[in-house]
Amino acid sequence: MNVADSEMVAAIMKSNGYETTDDIQTADVVVINTCSVRDNAERKIWNRLDFMKGLKHRNKNLKVGVIGCMAQRVGDKLFDSGAVDFVAGPDAYRHIPALVEETDLKPVADTDFDITETYAGIEPLRLDRESISGFVSITRGCNNFCSYCIVPYTRGRERSRSADDIIRESENLQANGYKELTLLGQNVNSYICGEYNFPKLIETVARRVPEMRVRFTTSHPKDISDELLEAIARNPNICNHIHLPVQSGSNTVLERMNRKYTREWYLDRIAAIRRIIPDCGLSTDIFCGFCGETESDYMQTVDLMETVGFDSAFLFKYSNRPGTFASKNLVDDVPEEEKVARLARLIEIQNRISLERNRSDIGKIFEVLVEGESKRSTDMLCGRTQQNKMVVFDRMTLKKGDYAKVKITEASSATLKGIVIQ
Ligand code: 5AD
Ligand code: SF4
Repeated sequence: MNVADSEMVAAIMKSNGYETTDDIQTADVVVINTCSVRDNAERKIWNRLDFMKGLKHRNKNLKVGVIGCMAQRVGDKLFDSGAVDFVAGPDAYRHIPALVEETDLKPVADTDFDITETYAGIEPLRLDRESISGFVSITRGCNNFCSYCIVPYTRGRERSRSADDIIRESENLQANGYKELTLLGQNVNSYICGEYNFPKLIETVARRVPEMRVRFTTSHPKDISDELLEAIARNPNICNHIHLPVQSGSNTVLERMNRKYTREWYLDRIAAIRRIIPDCGLSTDIFCGFCGETESDYMQTVDLMETVGFDSAFLFKYSNRPGTFASKNLVDDVPEEEKVARLARLIEIQNRISLERNRSDIGKIFEVLVEGESKRSTDMLCGRTQQNKMVVFDRMTLKKGDYAKVKITEASSATLKGIVIQ
C-alpha cells in the first residue's frame, strides 16, 4: 500500500517540477512514507529521523517530510525529532508541493481527512524501473474497526476509486510492458462504484489486460464471496492465489478482535476456495498474544493453521496501538516473553507446513512468470507461480517478463527449484 502511495506522491511531485533521485545525498526534499500498524514500524522511523538530522546538518537547504499513517497518528509531535519540516497525512498528498514551499517559514503539518479523496486523475510514477509488476490502488481507508487496528483511524473511512480510472491505469501498465498488476485495498471485497462490485471490477480488468497476470490484496474473510471465487476460476489471468488474513483460530479472540466472523465461517470459506479453485495458493496473516489470549485460544490458532495448511503466512505478536478500541477497553495482559515464545512456535509450525506444502509440488508443472535473476546465482532466474510461490530455474534463453513452464524438482520452506520444460 505504501509503495503504491509513494508512487502517487512521486507523480504529484513530478507534475510540480521535481525529479526523483537514487542518491539521498543530492536530494532537495526527502519524503518518508510510514506505517503505524505495529509499534516497531514506528520505532524504525524515529531511528531514520536521527539519520535525517545528520543529513540536514550537512545540507542546510534539505527539506524532510513524513507522510503516511504515522504522520497522521503522531502529527506535529514529529517536529520534536528536529529533523522534520513537514507532515502530511494520507489524504493530504496533493498539498505536499505547497507544504514544501511553506516550510521556508516554519514546520507545517496537514493531517486533515478528506473523505472524498481517491487521488483520481493521478497516474502513479512507477519507482522500480526494473519491475514487471505494478500496483493499482482501488480503495482507500477502512470501515471495519478491528479492535486492535490503527488503520481506520489513520487512513479514514473507506472509499472506492472510479472503475474507469482503475481500468485505464491497468491498461497503461500493459501498454508500458508490465506483466502483472495487483489491485490494492484494505478490504478489496467491499469495492463498490456504480454498477461495479469487486468481482465485476477484477473480471473487467482481467479481460482488458489479457497479457498480464492480475492479483489482488487484501480480502476480508467476512466478504469473500463465491461470486469472486467463480470470477477467479473463470479468468485464466486472474492468479489462483488468495491472501485471507485469519488473525486467530479462536472464536472468543475473533469476537474480541471484532473480526465479524467465526472460525467455522472462515473454514467454510476455505472449503469454498478449494472447491471452486482447486489449485489455489493460500496465505494469511496471524498474530498471537492479543488481549486475553489463553494458551487454549492459542492452540486453536495452531489447530487452524494445521487444518488449513497455508502455503505461507505473515506472523506477528500483538502490539498495543494507542487510540484503538483494544487499547482503550481491553487489557494487554499476555506478558511480552509469552508473546515472543508463542510467536516463535507459530513461525516454527508454519515453516514446517510451508515445507510440506512446497514438497507436495515436486513433480508438478507450473506456469512461471520470470521476474529476473535469482539472488544466489546469475546463471539462474526466478519467478512466481500463479499461487505466488517463488521458483528458481536455469536461465536457458529466457528473460524477464517471459512465461515458462517449469517442472518442480526440489523444495524448501521458502522456494521451489525446477527445470524449464517449455
Ligand atoms: N498488532 C499486531 N499485528 C497487527 N496487525 C494489525 N494490527 C496489529 C496490531 N495492533 C496485523 C494483522 C494485519 C496485518 C497487516 O498486520 O495481522 O492483517
Ligand atoms: Fe485493520 Fe481490520 Fe481494516 Fe484490516 S480490516 S485494515 S485489520 S481494521
